Amino acid sequence: MFDIQNIRSQFPILTQTVNGKPLVYLDNGATSQKPVSVIQSWEKYYSTINANVHRGIHTLSQLATEEMEVSRRKVQKFINAKHDFEVIFTKGTTEGINLIAYALTNLVKKDDEIIISYLEHHSNIVPWQMLCERTGAKLKVIPMDENGILQLDFLDKNLSERTKIVSLNQVSNALGVINPIEEIIAKTRANSNAMVVIDGAQSVPHFKIDVQKMDCDFFVFSGHKMYAPMGTGILYGKEEILRKIQPFHGGGEMIATCSFEETTYADLPFKFEAGTPNVGGNIALGAAIDFMETLGHEHIQTHENALLDYAQKKLLEIEGLKIYGEKANRTGVVSFNLEGIGIASDVGMILDKLGIAVRTGHHCTQPIMKFFNIAGTVRASFAVYNTFEEIDILAEGVKKAQRMLM
Ligand code: ALA
Repeated sequence: MFDIQNIRSQFPILTQTVNGKPLVYLDNGATSQKPVSVIQSWEKYYSTINANVHRGIHTLSQLATEEMEVSRRKVQKFINAKHDFEVIFTKGTTEGINLIAYALTNLVKKDDEIIISYLEHHSNIVPWQMLCERTGAKLKVIPMDENGILQLDFLDKNLSERTKIVSLNQVSNALGVINPIEEIIAKTRANSNAMVVIDGAQSVPHFKIDVQKMDCDFFVFSGHKMYAPMGTGILYGKEEILRKIQPFHGGGEMIATCSFEETTYADLPFKFEAGTPNVGGNIALGAAIDFMETLGHEHIQTHENALLDYAQKKLLEIEGLKIYGEKANRTGVVSFNLEGIGIASDVGMILDKLGIAVRTGHHCTQPIMKFFNIAGTVRASFAVYNTFEEIDILAEGVKKAQRMLM
């Protein structure tokens, strides 16, 4: 049974007051809070195991290695990867995309094309611009309409044998729009030999991922938006591609042999895991997966969809409030502005005084803001522990901000 009070009781931070008011945490798109099980997993690692992985003969090192590899297999199951060695630990989505963009350098030539979408976070724009600068390839962008819905006929006209990479998010961090990934991948497969990279940072916290069914080539996400510690993340890649591409970072852990004349690389996944990993964080990521799986994806999704519907309804009752992407299929996010109030952060500051944490600004998606001709939005983003009462508090807070600022 879905018991919201029981869920909330697992998050110590939620009992806090902020500015004298009970905390209403609605900035989950930026980072989610952590349940006790994740905090304890982290603490247990540093209190009883702390040792480096894969190198030591001693007991603690072996224990650390074993626990981190257990966690890798949990991630494998969580996203339904075919092999555990297709799961690479990173420090987050940004590192994952940069890793891929760098590792693909040798496979991209002048006048090749890379397709992204209008809805991307800067971390899924800039690494590809840098790859274009290195190689002479061209960046193309799938346009969107005023609802934040991608215009897929662009793909019919632009996919070709020149397309080398198609990279886009499954869910937009700024608007919460869910992109039709399956359709986009099908079009890509039918009209090109491009590799498909999916940024799952904002989808993994909300719904079940199956990378084999999705048939993407790469899938990246962060741990900290799905109840795991900061500095954790995953890059999934298909075995045959991971074997073909060059590593990103060079250093310890990623070599098979190293001499001044020649270095050979370690097998997967270690070829892409140079240096000491975030062992405690990676183990605690496994605890976050246990937390989500114990709740069940269906329950998480049902609750979060109900929160989104309710938030949309309550906020739209406020005169002059505009929700961006209102008519699109969305998850987890309501992004809005109040007519006549040009600075979203003014609203955010008043909400903060009421104990309500939201994010304001461009959300690292300046092209989206430019499209709507705005500097930023107020973004409320939800997690499984949020309640309908918190949405009521948000709506009352927004009304108060409107009264104060108009
Ligand atoms: N990318 C994160 C967000 O959308 C930080 O808030």
